[in-house]
Amino acid sequence: MTLLRITKHGEAVLKRPSAPVDLEKMGDELPKLLKDMWATMYSVRGVGLAAPQVGLNIRLSVIDVRPEGKPQRLVLINPQIVSRDGKIHDEEGCLSLPGVYAKIDRAAKVRVRALDEKGRPWEMEGEGLLARAFQHEIDHLDGRLFIDHLDFVHKLRVMSIIKDLKPTWS
Ligand code: NI
Repeated sequence: MTLLRITKHGEAVLKRPSAPVDLEKMGDELPKLLKDMWATMYSVRGVGLAAPQVGLNIRLSVIDVRPEGKPQRLVLINPQIVSRDGKIHDEEGCLSLPGVYAKIDRAAKVRVRALDEKGRPWEMEGEGLLARAFQHEIDHLDGRLFIDHLDFVHKLRVMSIIKDLKPTWS
């Protein structure tokens, strides 16, 4: 098991749309990558991690929002949002933007379709933190960060915070 370096805002891999995962091609590399991604995410107390955050432009994310304090590991391979409902405006952060938080709009409820690590299709509806994690982690696969949802004025404000924080990032 290896703790992976988490890429940070400003790195090209976070801006590029990711390519679909070819499960056959990945073969044995997938279980190893997933093990490393889980370990990396838990080591920094994250609730989600997308492949571009470990330097890979492939459509793979992991999520564990620990409903009722219990682990619930979700592997999202080639995920799609099939429906959205409602709207919430809440604070978000990201492991690729340490120390940066901002309130953004998200759908309150989303339904996601994806494959698991064995290639089996699954579908789930998420609300609250899970709904936000679904949208946040799928955004990463499309080359989007949560701050890209801010309007011009708020984005400017956040960019100046990022400028101050950047020298402290590793
Ligand atoms: Ni993130």
